[in-house]
Amino acid sequence: TRSVNIAVIGGDGIGPEVTREAVKVLGAAVGTDAFTTTEFDLGADRYRRDGEIYPADDIAELAKADAILLGAVGAEPGATDVPSGLVERGFLLRLRFAFDHYVNLRPARLFPGVDGVLSESITNEAPIDLVVVREGTEGLYCGNGGVVRAGTPHEIATEVSVNTAFGVERVVRDAFARAAARNGHLTLLHKHNVLVNAGGLWRRVVAEVGAEYPDVTVDYAHIDAAMIHLVTDPARFDVIVTDNLFGDIVTDLAGAVTGGIGLAASGNINPTGAFPSMFEPVHGSAPDIAGRGLADPTAAILSAALLAEHLRLGDAASQIRDAVAAHLASGPGSLTTSQIGDAIADRLG
Ligand code: NAD
Ligand code: IPM
Ligand code: MN
Repeated sequence: TRSVNIAVIGGDGIGPEVTREAVKVLGAAVGTDAFTTTEFDLGADRYRRDGEIYPADDIAELAKADAILLGAVGAEPGATDVPSGLVERGFLLRLRFAFDHYVNLRPARLFPGVDGVLSESITNEAPIDLVVVREGTEGLYCGNGGVVRAGTPHEIATEVSVNTAFGVERVVRDAFARAAARNGHLTLLHKHNVLVNAGGLWRRVVAEVGAEYPDVTVDYAHIDAAMIHLVTDPARFDVIVTDNLFGDIVTDLAGAVTGGIGLAASGNINPTGAFPSMFEPVHGSAPDIAGRGLADPTAAILSAALLAEHLRLGDAASQIRDAVAAHLASGPGSLTTSQIGDAIADRLG
């Protein structure tokens, strides 16, 4: 394997705790000589120290990496020294946009032995194994809107969702390719009964691209009904494609029904390779449990598997996933963050 350079942004709260275990497991899978890591100090703690959120030097260095592994950024809700969302928008979202991470890939799979929250009659019949392809660079995340008559009884606050034919088509194409490589089923989630403009565009693009994939069956659900389906009949989903905000919401629920947020991995992918892709657990910095060894690093470890897959590091991705699956099936009981990392790494060693 060629040596690759991985930028590691531990971030805030449990972020550094979980990325440490992810790097450990990746090293066990591919050998520590196969990659180098460069640590970046970014996030709310950095902002607290020197006021920097998106420092040009760090971003230029990040751009040179082969891939980025991120823990989580963000202060504890209610913090007074870091304005709400400053780091999330000013760093995380800004980076996803700058590096054109238009495929926000979020697999959700219920591993055998994991206590799901759904009844066994649902999950034994057909295990949950789906992938959400969340659009990552448009929608309501563009910061397009504003406030007029602020603070008055006549205040008007708007957030405008941006959906371009270019942006929708490229993510829909990616989703179809993934569906064709999996079980051949794609579901568009939207709300075109109300959101006629954006919904119309998504529908049309899915129909057009779908014509090129006669072997992929196409389905549609309104986002609200999809929340029901994900709980009552999750096996109906293979690949889901949806916009930025719907994708944010549906992937927390998909995480919850597949063993919890401690297992949910993601990749912010730029399939063109023009910028490095970034891999991160779906969860946040969990300030409520930080520094106590209570964080589950499995989501970060599975994110490292997505990173290995993206960089084509041999069969490291499937090895890591198999090790995680075997670990979870063994009924490990309650372990600390580093014990979980060790246990998974040991299965690879
Ligand atoms: P959170 O995901 O950090 O925590 C939600 C709940 O899940 C908490 O009870 C937490 O203890 C638990 N949890 C999260 N990850 C866990 C893990 N690996 N193991 C065990 N338990 C885990 O969400 P929040 O509390 O809404 O947000 C905290 C901060 O993180 C905020 O500043 C938020 O903006 C930020 N955030 C960042 C990202 C990111 O960097 N991608 C994502 C979501 C939230
Ligand atoms: C996620 C997070 C982010 C998002 C926040 C922290 C900006 O919730 O990665 O899912 O909304 O995308
Ligand atoms: Mn989210």
